[in-house]
Amino acid sequence: MTPDEIDCALDEHPEGAAEPAIPPATGEAARRRGPFTKGDRVQLTDPKGRKHTVVLEPGKQFHTHRGAVAHDELLGQPEGIVVSSTGKTPYLALRPLLADFVLAMPRGAAVVYPKDAAMIVGYADIFPGARVLEAGVGSGALACSLLRAVGERGLLVSYERRDDFAAVAQRNIETFFGGPHPAHRLHVGDLAESGETDMDRVVLDMLAPWEVLPTAAAALVAGGVLCAYVATATQLSRTCEALREHGAFAEPHAFETMLRDWHLDGLAVRPEHRMVGHTGFLVTARRLADGVTAPPRRRRPAKGAHGEPEAPSADAASPETEASGEPATDAVDAPTAAPRPTGAEPLDTVAVDGPSVIQAAADSDGGGTPATAE
Ligand SMILES: C[S@@+](CC[C@H](N)C(=O)[O-])C[C@H]1O[C@@H](n2cnc3c(N)ncnc32)[C@H](O)[C@@H]1O
Repeated sequence: MTPDEIDCALDEHPEGAAEPAIPPATGEAARRRGPFTKGDRVQLTDPKGRKHTVVLEPGKQFHTHRGAVAHDELLGQPEGIVVSSTGKTPYLALRPLLADFVLAMPRGAAVVYPKDAAMIVGYADIFPGARVLEAGVGSGALACSLLRAVGERGLLVSYERRDDFAAVAQRNIETFFGGPHPAHRLHVGDLAESGETDMDRVVLDMLAPWEVLPTAAAALVAGGVLCAYVATATQLSRTCEALREHGAFAEPHAFETMLRDWHLDGLAVRPEHRMVGHTGFLVTARRLADGVTAPPRRRRPAKGAHGEPEAPSADAASPETEASGEPATDAVDAPTAAPRPTGAEPLDTVAVDGPSVIQAAADSDGGGTPATAE
């Protein structure tokens, strides 16, 4: 510690002043900590990585073709122990994480994968205490992540138009949280007929999010975030065009997440050969204040992007013009030179004008996005 840091630390905790007591864990935090108790869900992983989930009951046994594991060997023990079956197979015992639970739970509709749920929580900016509107709830996978993020003092209002899916979701959510979550309200019905208001965030995972944009706009507070998860490029395009046309939203931001696991074995350290290549795309857009019109986009659309015939051009395939249909210098010639933040580039980079900075932001954009992209 430097002398300045020591002074700072002393200021924060002057000698003799007690640090504020950390309140005891409640709710999910209390259930997830400490030794295994009756009713806990425990994930047993065998040496081949196969996972089995058991709900602990005194006197019961978990049977596999490699012998039985007595629940009594787990009850009262800490997480992370290894128990052996009667056939001498060792099993690592841990409480399942939300990602484990979601991939193993019963499904009605297809679930949002953990990698996308994590991005939704992050990029839709779901905060503790937030009021979030969600549709459709499907199997309840995303709802579990949203409930965790809003916490017990937030609110998640979920709409699902299929009552059979809503029942599956309700069961999954109650299983994961060990009972009804105090912040959850689940309605069977169409979001388009919901009439919700005063929501900080709206999260849509449905076939046709563009059909419910008027409902989402009416539900969101000014500055609120709409986040839509869609599976195909055509849905993505339609959602973004509908957002622009609606008028109550700022420019949408669209992206996808690719998660590649790594193989780690001695010197063989490399990406796994297989990965989930595609799940879906995310679109986020901020709700404008009532009566406000979004500033016009500075970027000119690419030639042909809106269906007009594209004139053949000698430099059409040059690196500068390929993606945007216009020379890279157009962006720096614009009235103010800094590009509009997309969320992909660091904010402090965007705040500074100048061609070299614009190029740096474009370079950090994940590869290849030219300076004119925004
Ligand atoms: C892919 S699933 C949602 C999965 C869910 N996010 C999860 O992680 O488990 C899409 C769901 O949206 C529901 N849905 C579609 N349009 C809807 C609408 N307008 N209002 C309410 N639910 C809708 C469908 O019935 C379906 O269950």
